[in-house]
Amino acid sequence: MNIREELAEAIGKTAVLSSERAYELLEEPPQQNLGDYALPCFTLAKELRKSPQLIAEEIAEKLELPELFAELKVTGPYLNFFFAADKFIPEILTEARLKGKDYGSSKLGGAEPVIVEYSSANIAKSFHVGHGYSTILGQVIANLYQKLGYDVKRFNHLGDYGTQFGKLIYAWKHWGDQAALERDPLAEMTRIYVKFHREAEAQPELEDAARHEFKNLESGEAEAVRIWSLFRELSIESFKKIYKRLNIDFDNWNGEAFYSKMMPEVVAELEADGLLEESEGAKVVRLDDYGLNPCIIQKSDGTSIYATRDLAAIKWRKDEVKFKRNIYVVGKEQCNHFQQLFAVLEKQKKAEAKECVHVSFGRIKFADGDFSTRKGQIITLEELLDRAVEKTREIILANNPDESPEEINKTAEIIGVDAVIFTYIKNSRERDIFFSWDEALSFEGESAPYLLYTYARAKSILRKAELNWEELDSSYLQHLDSAEDLELAKIIAAYPEKIKQAAEAFEPSILVRLILNLARSFNSYYHAKPILKAESEDLVKARLLLVGICAEQLRAMLHLIGLETVEKM
Ligand code: ARG
Repeated sequence: MNIREELAEAIGKTAVLSSERAYELLEEPPQQNLGDYALPCFTLAKELRKSPQLIAEEIAEKLELPELFAELKVTGPYLNFFFAADKFIPEILTEARLKGKDYGSSKLGGAEPVIVEYSSANIAKSFHVGHGYSTILGQVIANLYQKLGYDVKRFNHLGDYGTQFGKLIYAWKHWGDQAALERDPLAEMTRIYVKFHREAEAQPELEDAARHEFKNLESGEAEAVRIWSLFRELSIESFKKIYKRLNIDFDNWNGEAFYSKMMPEVVAELEADGLLEESEGAKVVRLDDYGLNPCIIQKSDGTSIYATRDLAAIKWRKDEVKFKRNIYVVGKEQCNHFQQLFAVLEKQKKAEAKECVHVSFGRIKFADGDFSTRKGQIITLEELLDRAVEKTREIILANNPDESPEEINKTAEIIGVDAVIFTYIKNSRERDIFFSWDEALSFEGESAPYLLYTYARAKSILRKAELNWEELDSSYLQHLDSAEDLELAKIIAAYPEKIKQAAEAFEPSILVRLILNLARSFNSYYHAKPILKAESEDLVKARLLLVGICAEQLRAMLHLIGLETVEKM
């Protein structure tokens, strides 16, 4: 059940305003004395040509309050709605209990195909913390759409093509070290790539040799293709190790090379649409009317280019997947690129222009000295994960010196990885992240360890109880009627709505706020109310049920944002 939708619908039935408009306007007031929902009426005054107060009164008069509400008050231009705690608490908690981890799922998406493209790392280069952002954020966005009933396809648009592969092939032929490649493929590929650039400074003719190798690759010459394929395979293998730690998998790994072959179709289409112009030997689409630079489609030497491969990818995805939405989770630096792409689609009068979205994000920054990398050298995601796990291990070891090393390692891996994931999605994505170890690994603040700890604590209460909460009848929930009970039920009731909001805004942080709220409220509940030693037998059962339901929902929420949980901590 989505309470906000239900209330909006009831308001719509008054015919004073539509339920859609009511849905938009409804808000959750910050203070309890202003109700559990409020409808501010000022913005309606103009549309309805009446004073906000009169509008509020008219709605109040005609409205049939949904069952879970007890009261409605008109306070000036506001309508304030109050839940009927005695009905609301058991109703919501019973629903959450029955649905378990499926609570909050909906059929909203109608199984429509949605592509979420994320990670899209570049092969033969190390997987740095910037790609970590796309990888982690994209995974959660895909989870959200799946939860809403869309047919989600997870795409990894690998950067496996481009003139740099000409350089790599040349470099490998001249300076490659097979043993080093086997030991640490990405490091060896990086080494020879860097060497190429150094050598080319003294010998500019190497650039031509590299272009020649790229041409070989494009025309399918066996040796060039062999080296490129080897690099691609080894890179993917390395990436997969990281994806595995993050619990990530993709439905589709088509890289830029795959789409490169389709360039002629893209060019022909644009030609037929009369959009291609010659410019210094290259073919471009002019975008002056969008205030953008021309989008280069084909270079003067006839080779394809990043944007063209993206246009080909959109075409392929439309034909094969028939997406209703094609979501790119890519850093802010590429805003201009996507604006150009979507402008070209619009000029072609394609529906895809509106169905493609660029979901951008900021950068992740570290304090000096956090990593011992030399200046200018990048920090890999693996280093960040390893460091987080190591630091977590030290903390756990200090607190639990008697725990077995295997147990500690296992727990540290989960908590450390979660701490990193959480840092990426905690705040709104447009902002840069200033990574702080204290914040990420704190057991008290807004952190993954805090959330995991809250879950583990709930589970420990359940373990200590003599009764098995799963066997208790839901009717005991009727005994929950305090403000603290209502608070927890309200948070759980808001979950379905927050999933929707987070998906629509491509903003997991919206959901993260709710999860933190649940954890905080649960912890204060635990301090305020005895559970196993509650005043009566009925209340013990009711509170055990509450703890069980909160724990189960907290776990489901954490999984939705990509975090694994531990039962003990
Ligand atoms: N591989 C690119 C990079 O690392 C990101 C690809 C983004 N996706 C796209 N369809 N262009 O910069």
